[in-house]
Amino acid sequence: MTIPGVLKYVNLTRNHFVNFSRYAGEGIYMNQRLLVDNDAVMSHYPNRPFLVRHNLVGHPLFEIPRLLEVEKALPPRKVSYVTGKVGVNEDKYQAPPTGLTAEETIRRIRDCESWLVLKNVELIPEYRELLAELLGTFTPLAEKSTPGVRQLEAWIFVTSPRSISPYHLDPEHNFLLQIHGNKVVHVFDADDPGILSNKELEDYYTSGGTIAKLEFKDVYQQKARTFALKPGEGVHIPYKAPHWVQVEDEFSISFSITFFSNLCDRQARLYRFNSQLRKLGLNPVSPGRSALRDAVKDRLISGYLKTRKMLGKKAPAVRQY
Ligand SMILES: [Fe+2]
Repeated sequence: MTIPGVLKYVNLTRNHFVNFSRYAGEGIYMNQRLLVDNDAVMSHYPNRPFLVRHNLVGHPLFEIPRLLEVEKALPPRKVSYVTGKVGVNEDKYQAPPTGLTAEETIRRIRDCESWLVLKNVELIPEYRELLAELLGTFTPLAEKSTPGVRQLEAWIFVTSPRSISPYHLDPEHNFLLQIHGNKVVHVFDADDPGILSNKELEDYYTSGGTIAKLEFKDVYQQKARTFALKPGEGVHIPYKAPHWVQVEDEFSISFSITFFSNLCDRQARLYRFNSQLRKLGLNPVSPGRSALRDAVKDRLISGYLKTRKMLGKKAPAVRQY
């Protein structure tokens, strides 16, 4: 199977990526940090996954001592950690605690069988600058197909060998960049009704993204797009595309850089609206299938949100965690 973004890179060693500028003019988008195949962006963004490369391997912001400082600097609610010994079909956020502190989890990540995330590290200036370096010149490309790029965020995942991130979806555009250890990422097509039903998406968006768990069926796996990431590689995970991830035999450090767009917001609004229609006994058409129906729903939703605003109520959040 041809994986866009892979063929051009397959014969290149890591040293080839020390100086990205040598690839200028070969149809490859690049900046100092992120290397993306322009063709892959044009043909795959925002709905399909594709491979990217980066040069964050060995970067001091991802060394264990620095991550220990980050854990101390972030508000406690921005640090989550649970056992990494869960199945593909479990809810990560319901997994049992390990009995370790966050600090102990990071220090012992090689053998404590854990999964830890440092959320919104862009709150710390050095990571915010790095995020801007990575995405600063990509976002104009993204704007062409997904206007309204905003809310750039960065998350660091620190995970023990063989840990699993169960099957789930996220509401925003995402690049998962692998920095230490190997990770296998399985991505599924959000628009395949045999994988993801409208009802599941409506429930997800109605919950503000708090329903992290989707039901995974073994039969789905044959439809997975699988990316075996090594340090220096990354994958674009489309918004609302289900995925699950497994770490290989080394502990893993990954940097997830994400952003929202008008498309993410509109999809959330339309799925929430459809959820209300379904409660009335209707079987609504999913967003993107009928421009006319979507436009009518937009008008109705707009009126509803204006009324809420006049009553002093906030618009529902796309993601509440
Ligand atoms: Fe995810």
